[in-house]
Amino acid sequence: MSKNKILIAGNWKMNKTTAEARSLVSEIVAGAGSQTKVDVAVCPPFTALESAAASLKGSSVMLGAQNVYVKDSGAYTGEISASMLKEVGCSCVILGHSERRQYFGESDAFINEKTKVAQAAGLLPIVCVGETLAEREAGKMLEVVSTQTTGALAGVTDAANLVIAYEPVWAIGTGKTATPEMAQEVHAAIRALLVKQFGEAGNKVRILYGGSMNPANASELLDQADIDGGLIGGAALKSASFLELVAIASSKGGCCCCCGK
Ligand code: PGA
Repeated sequence: MSKNKILIAGNWKMNKTTAEARSLVSEIVAGAGSQTKVDVAVCPPFTALESAAASLKGSSVMLGAQNVYVKDSGAYTGEISASMLKEVGCSCVILGHSERRQYFGESDAFINEKTKVAQAAGLLPIVCVGETLAEREAGKMLEVVSTQTTGALAGVTDAANLVIAYEPVWAIGTGKTATPEMAQEVHAAIRALLVKQFGEAGNKVRILYGGSMNPANASELLDQADIDGGLIGGAALKSASFLELVAIASSKGGCCCCCGK
């Protein structure tokens, strides 16, 4: 089976001011803004979305947010709706990142609600799942990832507008990457769940790897059968490393040279 089109998405987390975002995005656009071999997305903090959108105009790079609330408007102090994200130019949104689960108590049920709201608004959800070190050491890794995946996707029927990101918590920002084999084992398990839920369409859902992915380890990870891209934290904060990741992904080739997929 041919692989899915690779997606390289940068998760900037709580980094970059408006001005910094403008210059980082300009560098990314200069280096990768017209290629279509792989999909590229940047996900700045809310305050930098507008300046990033302006710098991305006319390029193939997608804009994403790092969170969304489930209501469309109203008395929800501190929250941002899907329609606001659409209006500012977002086409995707990271959901259920482990930092949101850990520091803000997000549950699978809440992430499920957000996934449906994002899809209904025409935003591509990038739904994050992943086990902690304690869970892996207790042999519960597949159980945890399976519960998170099925929980986040309960009642979801639109496989065409869906991305999953497997991010082992112990590999995020630590420099410890899952080996390609460790990652592939979990990606294959997620793939099986997707096929169970969506049938053949489950094979087309991209499953990204995240957790200290960088130019030194990306190639081997992207060679795995069920790894369709990367959700990049630290290495997305500098254009040189992010663009190198895009170049590595592009070198993997797509399905054909004429359609760019
Ligand atoms: P990292 O972060 O690449 O810095 O490990 C990835 C993520 O948390 O999305």
